[in-house]
Amino acid sequence: MTHTVHVGVAESPYDVTIEPGLMDRIGTMIAPLVRSDKVGIVTDSNIEKLYLDRVVRSIQDCGLDPVVATIPAGEAYKTLSQLLPVYDIFLRARFERTTPILACGGGVVGDMTGFVAATLLRGVPFIQIPTTLLAMVDASVGGKTGVDHPVGKNLIGAFHQPTAVLIDPAVLQTLPPRELRSGLAECIKHEIIRDERGFESLEQNLHRALQLDLDYLSELIAHNVGIKASVVVNDPLERGERAHLNFGHTFGHAIESVSNYAYAHGEAVALGMCAATYAAVELGMINQSDRQRIIRLIQQTGLPTSGLTLSVDSVVKSMYSDKKVRSGRIRFVLPTRIGAVTLRDDLSSELVRKSLESLC
Ligand SMILES: NC(=O)c1ccc[n+]([C@@H]2O[C@H](COP(=O)([O-])OP(=O)(O)OC[C@H]3O[C@@H](n4cnc5c(N)ncnc54)[C@H](O)[C@@H]3O)[C@@H](O)[C@H]2O)c1
Ligand SMILES: [Zn+2]
Repeated sequence: MTHTVHVGVAESPYDVTIEPGLMDRIGTMIAPLVRSDKVGIVTDSNIEKLYLDRVVRSIQDCGLDPVVATIPAGEAYKTLSQLLPVYDIFLRARFERTTPILACGGGVVGDMTGFVAATLLRGVPFIQIPTTLLAMVDASVGGKTGVDHPVGKNLIGAFHQPTAVLIDPAVLQTLPPRELRSGLAECIKHEIIRDERGFESLEQNLHRALQLDLDYLSELIAHNVGIKASVVVNDPLERGERAHLNFGHTFGHAIESVSNYAYAHGEAVALGMCAATYAAVELGMINQSDRQRIIRLIQQTGLPTSGLTLSVDSVVKSMYSDKKVRSGRIRFVLPTRIGAVTLRDDLSSELVRKSLESLC
């Protein structure tokens, strides 16, 4: 069963195709989009071992010549210096403006490849083949690309939309379970910000996602790509509504960074969604029963909702020292019900602290 989601961004619309087993058909899927005899592939050291052969073979079978650049796996390597050998390989292979580059990996590979594609020869086409749930439902759609800097994450980058996004949910079978749960945190986030019926469906079918039921995962991915796409199409350069995607992330980023990344991104976002929902209840914006449903779904996913062992003081300090904070006001995304959120920048520091204490 194939699902296709159209992402109607102005000037460069593209399709996201979701189909189990698609990894063996990459060549035939990209051939109609390619106007060059070469194709660049960027992958990481884990995906290289698991899937690269299949991708390379399918591209060669279509008469195209794949040129591979492998980066070491992990966020620690999402740096500008790791990109220099990648530019080197592609420039020495005499890439032209029409030569597309494929990103085959998680969000780290996707962000880095997108940045290479945005800057190599001032911009070449790029195709995403995301292999983590997070990259499938979040990072591969929206056109944000870039690398980290010691001063902070994703500080060097560009907007560059892909030509296509090709998703094979079957690759999730090799993904470590903790990474799968991290991706589910973003799915829960999407339902809370936009879709009460989607939330209900996830409540009923979560076990199928955790058991890697490919029919359900395909549906879930298509549904979540649809939500992310509709938000970014309305606000491609992040000037308004796209901020809703930060639900759970204001608290979450601070928790992630104070824990020194001991909490995985999705785990920190799970806690962040609980803290933001607590604040919304305190402000009379959402009722307790919706909060209980949110907490239950996060818990059933195997993500944390309490047991925060970090110092609340340090997390509060980290939140207020963020460079996005203007005159002591932090902008939060808070739920008004399951399926809708609003922006608030009037939370007292006492409420921010109490919300974090609710996680202890
Ligand atoms: N551009 C955006 O809009 C956007 C949105 C959200 C996140 N991001 C970025 O995404 C990154 C996080 O992405 P991620 O969570 O995918 O992490 P990741 O790319 O580091 O992948 C996680 C780990 O899983 C391994 N892996 C990937 N697919 C696998 C598979 N199918 N089987 C086995 N192992 C596999 C990877 O090698 C890696 O070790 C962050 O850098 C974040 O900034 C970007
Ligand atoms: Zn996130």
